[in-house]
This record gives sequence, C-alpha cells and structure tokens, in this order.
Amino acid sequence: MHEKALIDTAKALVADGKGILAADESTGTIKKRLDGIGVESTEATRQAYRNLLFTTEGSEDFISGVILFEETLFQKADDGTLFSKLLADKGVIPGIKVDKGAKPLAGSPEEMITEGLDGLRDRLKEYADAGARFAKWRAVIDITDERPTDYCIGVNANALARYAALCQEAGIVPIVEPEVLMDGENTLERCEQVTDRVLDAVFTELKQQQILLEGMLLKPNMVISGKKCGQQADVAQVADATLRCLRRRVPAAVPGIVFLSGGQSDEVATAHLNAMNKRGPHAWKLSFSYGRALQAPALDAWRGKPENIEAAQKAYFKRARNNSAAARGEYSA
Ligand code: 13P
Repeated sequence: MHEKALIDTAKALVADGKGILAADESTGTIKKRLDGIGVESTEATRQAYRNLLFTTEGSEDFISGVILFEETLFQKADDGTLFSKLLADKGVIPGIKVDKGAKPLAGSPEEMITEGLDGLRDRLKEYADAGARFAKWRAVIDITDERPTDYCIGVNANALARYAALCQEAGIVPIVEPEVLMDGENTLERCEQVTDRVLDAVFTELKQQQILLEGMLLKPNMVISGKKCGQQADVAQVADATLRCLRRRVPAAVPGIVFLSGGQSDEVATAHLNAMNKRGPHAWKLSFSYGRALQAPALDAWRGKPENIEAAQKAYFKRARNNSAAARGEYSA
C-alpha cells in the first residue's frame, strides 16, 4: 500500500554521491564517545553535539539521511526547530533507530539477539508522525572458531525480517543491518564465510516475510580481517571479497547497500568504499551509513567547547565530502 513511497525514499537515500550519517548512538554508546573527549553526557551536551553535526552547512550535498536516536527525534535545534524538521527542510531525510539493543541469547548466552519487537508497530506510528521516513535495526554477530551458531544467525535474521515487515506496513523504509563484528582474530576468508551465511539467512527470511526488496536498504559489514588477525588484508582484497559475497547473496532488486564502518579508521573506510565503486557499475548503489568513520574527527575537534564548533564542522564536512566522492568511486587521498 505504501509501495511507491517506500521505493522513492529508498532510492533517495542512495541518490548519486550521497550516503547516510548514523547519529543514532544509544544513551550508553554516546556516553562512551563523549567520555572519550572529556565531556559529560547530558541531554544538553547530546543536543549540542547533534546540533553541531546537523547544522553543518553544505553537508546536505553529501548526506541523504540521518539516523536519529529516539531522544534526538523529539529534540529541538538551538534555534527552536525540531531536529527532524531542520533536517527535512535541508532535504535530508530523518530516520530512527528502533531496536532496543542486543542482549545475551537464551540457550547460547555468549551470542546476542537484538530485542525491540514488542510494541514496535505502535512505536513506528509515532515515529512516522514525528517525521521519520526510514528506520534501522542492528543484529550483532560475533566470530570465533565455534561461533556464530546457525541458531544465532536464524533468530536474528527472523527478527530483522519481522522488523522490516512492520516498517513497510507503516510506510517506513527499513535498513536491515546484520553486522558481523570485526573485533576477532579471524581471517578475511573466515569473515567472508560467516557474512555469506548471515546474508543467506537474512534474505531467506526477508523473502518468507514478503518484504518489498525495492523498498529497503541493506547495511552490512565489509568483508575484512578481524582486528586481532596477524595478517591484515589490503584494500583491494577487502573490495574483492566484499563484492564477491554481496553478488552471491543480495538480489539486484535491493536499490542500495550502505555499509557500516564498524571500527575501521575513517580513511580506511573511505578507501574501501571507493575501491568497490571503482570496480562498478554494480547491480545496487554502494554507499555509506557510517557512524564513527564520519564523526570521529569532528568529536575530537569539538571537545565540548563552543569555540571549537567551526573546526568540528569542518572536520565533519570533510569526512562527508570524501565519502561522497567514494560513493561515486572518485575519491583520491
Ligand atoms: P559505525 O559506522 O560506527 O559502525 O556505526 C554505524 C552504525 O549505525 C552501527 O549500527
């Protein structure tokens, strides 16, 4: 029933040279980020930080949408405008993180299951009324020699598809995010094998639950060596392995794939995206939905001081511009 609106929004989110800013850190995660720059996390400092990002002049040329945390969706900018309206007025689509975080999985407690389905239908109505046109749900999959189990992959894939179905019913584009973590000792090959299993399960569930593929986006990890692996794959190897995995598992009907950065340094995340787009054209748009890789230099420049806002905005603008170039395969360091 919302078919056309879903397709139009999904396409707009991956318009040429544009990607998404993930600014939806939960209260716990943003506290960690603010602690890192010596700023106490309060409603006021969180508002000040997000105000800085969203009012960066010219960022709308590179950023199609922003994922917000619930608190931010209902918060106002310094000039009294609701953040959702401020963004929409600049042509930036407001989105909302709707999952309630990853919790230990019963029966396999070292693995995680993402919660938040109870009451989601009603919450989505409220978010849509507040201006949100797309949403995000993140599943977290860890790699060890024995894990992930098929059980963990299966329940997370099922939840992602249930979330996606509820979003589409509400006219909200679901970003489906199954994140295979990059923290382990695993090789690139092992990451490819696990990412392949995960994407296979996710698209099987999406099909079973009748998701309109044209009206969603996939937000995957790149296929990458674990951080603690002695042998780190280079940019070309990451680009080739990631593309091989996506081509095998992601139907061409999906309009866009927007990567998470997952702890890669900001410049490496840009280089990887650029290398993949240089190998195009592809069946889907390949762009970014970065959190840390867009924000880290801005946070560092800001440090909670009003006199640093300009420098922080410059740093954010630069990351957005470079990733926009990478989304076109036109970035050079
Ligand atoms: P990172 O790019 O920092 O991984 O964050 C993206 C995101 O939204 C994770 O859910």
